[in-house]
Amino acid sequence: MQKIIILDFGSQTTQLIGRRVRELNTFCEIIPYNRFPEDDSDVIGVILSGSPLSVYADNAFHPDLSRIIGKFPVLGICYGAQLISWANGGKVEAAGTREYGRANLNFIDPSSRLFRGIEVPAQVWMSHGDSITAIPEGFSRSASTDQVHFAAYENDAKRIWAVQFHPEVEHSLIGRQLLENFVIGICGSRQEWSPDSFIETTVGELRSQLGDDKVVLGLSGGVDSTVAAVLLNKAIGSNLTCIFVNHGLLRKNEFEDVLADYRLLGLKVVGVDASQRFFADLAGITDPEKKRKVIGADFIKVFDEEASKIENVKWLAQGTIYPDRIESLNITGKTIKSHHNVGGLPERMQLQLCEPLKWLFKDEVRRVGHSLGIPDNLIGRHPFPGPGLAVRIIGDITPEKVKTLQEVDHIFISGLRQWGLYDKIWQAGAILLNDRSVGVMGDERTFENAVALRAVTSSDAMTADWAELPYEFLKHISNEIINKVKGVNRVCYDISSKPPATIEWE
Ligand code: XMP
Repeated sequence: MQKIIILDFGSQTTQLIGRRVRELNTFCEIIPYNRFPEDDSDVIGVILSGSPLSVYADNAFHPDLSRIIGKFPVLGICYGAQLISWANGGKVEAAGTREYGRANLNFIDPSSRLFRGIEVPAQVWMSHGDSITAIPEGFSRSASTDQVHFAAYENDAKRIWAVQFHPEVEHSLIGRQLLENFVIGICGSRQEWSPDSFIETTVGELRSQLGDDKVVLGLSGGVDSTVAAVLLNKAIGSNLTCIFVNHGLLRKNEFEDVLADYRLLGLKVVGVDASQRFFADLAGITDPEKKRKVIGADFIKVFDEEASKIENVKWLAQGTIYPDRIESLNITGKTIKSHHNVGGLPERMQLQLCEPLKWLFKDEVRRVGHSLGIPDNLIGRHPFPGPGLAVRIIGDITPEKVKTLQEVDHIFISGLRQWGLYDKIWQAGAILLNDRSVGVMGDERTFENAVALRAVTSSDAMTADWAELPYEFLKHISNEIINKVKGVNRVCYDISSKPPATIEWE
C-alpha cells in the first residue's frame, strides 16, 4: 500500500501530522529522523517534522537526506524547513523573539502547487524560536507573514517544499488544504487507506499469520481490546477465546452488562469473577502504588490460570495501538506514558504476541469498530483505568466503600448521558475521599463521607482540562447523590487541569 514517511525530529505535534495524513485516507509511518527504511518501494512522499532543537546547535539532528531528496517529494515543517535551508546553503538564525501563535499569510505565490486553492489572508499557526533568514539558491519564497518573510519556500523542480508554520494543528485553518495538496496533489496518493480496507487486509493477514492456532485475549471493556477481539473473531472465529476478569473494582453492573454485550457480538468470552481474591489481597493497603502492584499481580495470576485451561494456545492478542508504540516520540529524551498490558505472561507461557491494531490511532480504532458493527455504547466509552475504582478511593479499599462509590459514579455518569454531555468530554468519574465532614439532614447532625466529581476534556490524556459542566447540571447531580447515596453528605467538583494535577487522584 502507498505510504508517506514522516521523519520525526522530536516535535510534540509529529503524531498530529500522522493523523492528518491518515484523515486523507493515506497510510503513513512515523519513524525516527535517522531511520529511513531500506525498502522504500511503497513510499510516495516524505514529511520532515518539527523539533525542539535549533538546527545550528551542537546536539541538533542532521541526518543524511541524500536517499530522499530528489527521489521523493519532500515537505519540511518548521525544523524540517530550517534543516533543508541550513543543509543547502541557506541561513537560519535565532529570531529576536520567539514567535508562537496565530499569524496570517499576507503573500502567497499563486504558482505554488502546495498553496493551490489557498488565498491570503490565510491563518496559520507558528511556534518557533529560529527563523530562516536566507533560502538556498534555486529556491523561491512561496509565502510570507508580517513577521516572517520566508514563511514558506520551495523548489518545485527538485520536489522540495518547506513551511515554517505548522499545517497539522487545528489553528492553521488552511492546514488541511495544504496537506491535501501535498499528499494527494503532489505525492499522488490514491487514498486507499480506509476502515474497510484495513479490515479486509488485516483479516487476511491474521488468517495467514495464525492458521489454525488458538489465541487468547484479555478484554477490559475498553474500546481497544473490544475492537481487537471483534476483528480477530472475524478472522479466526472459535479459535479465539477472550477472558474478562472482574476484579470487583468495575463500575456498577459493568461486569454483567459488558459481558452480555460481548456475547451479543458473538465473542467466546470466559467471564471470571475474582472480586473476593482482589478484596482479600487489597485489605488494609493505602499506598496508591502498592494498590496498583497488588492488582497487577493478581490480574496476571487470574489471567494465567484461565489461559492455562485452554489447550494448545499459542498466541496472546492485545489491543495495543499505534501511539503506544511510536518509539520516535521519545527521541529527545522526553518520557511518554508507558503502556499497560498483561506483562509477564508471554515469557512464562511462551506465547507469541498478536497486535492487530498496532497501526491505528485511537480515532481510527473507533472508525474500524464502527465498520465492524460494534454498537456505539461500546465504541464511545470513556477510558477507564485498569485498576478501576481502586485508584479513586483514597485510603484502604473495602467492598462497602466500592459499593458507595459505584452508586455515586452511576448517578454522575447516567446524568452526563441524560443531559447529552457524555460524548463532549474525554473521561469522568467520582472519587471517594478519606475524610468525613459535618452536615445536617432533617434536624440531625451528620458526619459522613465527601466525594469529588472529576470530568475532563482531552485528546490523548497526556494533558487535560477540567470540563466546564453547566451549574444546573452540577446542582442536579449533587442533589441526586446526597439524597440517594447513604453515607455521603458533601459533593465537590475538581477544577484542576493536568498538568500539574493528573486525571486520576491516585
Ligand atoms: P493520569 O491519572 O496519569 O491518567 O492523568 C491518564 C490516563 O490513564 C488512565 N490511568 C490508568 N490506566 N492503568 C491503566 O490502565 C493505570 O494504572 C492507570 N492510571 C491512570 C487514566 O484513567 C487516564 O485515562
